[in-house]
Amino acid sequence: MLAAFVSTPAPKDPLSVLEVGDRPEPEVPEGWTTVTVKAASLNHHDLFSLRGVGLPAERMPMILGCDAAGVDEDGNEVVVHAVISSAGWTGDETMDPKRSLLSEVHQGTLAERVAVPRRNIVAKPAELSFAEAACLPTAWLTAYRMLFVRSGLRPGSTVLVQGASGGVATALIKLGSAAGYRVWVTGRSEEKRAAALALGADQAFESGARLPERVDGVMETVGEATWSHSIKSLKPGGVVVTCGATTGFGPPAELNRIFFTQLSVVGSTMGTREELDQLIQMCRVTGVRPQIDVELPLAQARDGFERMLEGRTAGKIVFTL
Ligand SMILES: NC(=O)c1ccc[n+]([C@@H]2O[C@H](COP(=O)([O-])OP(=O)(O)OC[C@H]3O[C@@H](n4cnc5c(N)ncnc54)[C@H](OP(=O)(O)O)[C@@H]3O)[C@@H](O)[C@H]2O)c1
Repeated sequence: MLAAFVSTPAPKDPLSVLEVGDRPEPEVPEGWTTVTVKAASLNHHDLFSLRGVGLPAERMPMILGCDAAGVDEDGNEVVVHAVISSAGWTGDETMDPKRSLLSEVHQGTLAERVAVPRRNIVAKPAELSFAEAACLPTAWLTAYRMLFVRSGLRPGSTVLVQGASGGVATALIKLGSAAGYRVWVTGRSEEKRAAALALGADQAFESGARLPERVDGVMETVGEATWSHSIKSLKPGGVVVTCGATTGFGPPAELNRIFFTQLSVVGSTMGTREELDQLIQMCRVTGVRPQIDVELPLAQARDGFERMLEGRTAGKIVFTL
């Protein structure tokens, strides 16, 4: 079957090891099922996988991709929950120390078919297209959990989103504004800031700009390049929720500001199956839909990876089958 995959890691030149071609049909363990993929979306995670981050060479070849929407063996339209918990785990899947994401241990979603545990299948409502539904399981679920589960912020709060155009950033802007937060955004270009305003952001600023006032919360996906600004932008007692560090994990940690102004630093990762279902219901009820940058046939996956690597994104990149 057609798939986008990696056979050897390339920390410095990830696109050089991206392969789009034939891979064997998925193996289906007991309790698992096969989903015929109609749409799959790209995440920064897939670039990290090409670099070998979280995916050692001994687990390759590995089909990339965490996110998919498609049709199950009974013909039902479904969304795949990407968090694979260990056998016998109950409760919050994101707290399982042995969990993995699709494409880390088990073959991923950028393929014609993917095998997943039966419990990882969630019904797709007809109102959402396959392309829209395929955006939800990683970037959008992560944004949902950051805003509504981990931040402790209530509607009416002012929230700064670092980065305007990324998959998680656009989800934070759309979900946050739909839920009644005042959403401020930083973006690296005029064009990206204008796009963020069109998505529902209240105000957009240049990366690192001094804000008109300090904010209640910051949503961080960028890491080293914006961390200092995030900490300095918070009101005393504010919260920064971090789910990623695209630009690096390094200092400065700003520890003096964190303790002196009594800030909270909260980690967040993915979301539970139940939260994915709630996110889907929120999309239904509010009419909010993922911002899709471009839809490409899977055979043209390289174009999508190039756009993400170069930062030429305006929402989610979706591959269709
Ligand atoms: N923990 C989890 O469960 C989880 C889940 C999903 C994602 N993540 C992580 O979250 C991060 C974002 O993922 P994604 O899929 O949204 O990636 P993406 O679509 O490639 O978005 C990248 C974002 O980073 C911003 N950015 C990049 N370099 C920057 C710089 N030098 N200065 C300021 N902003 C910069 C971009 O801002 P502009 O708009 O200004 O270009 C853009 O908003 C990744 O590190 C990913 O691994 C973690």
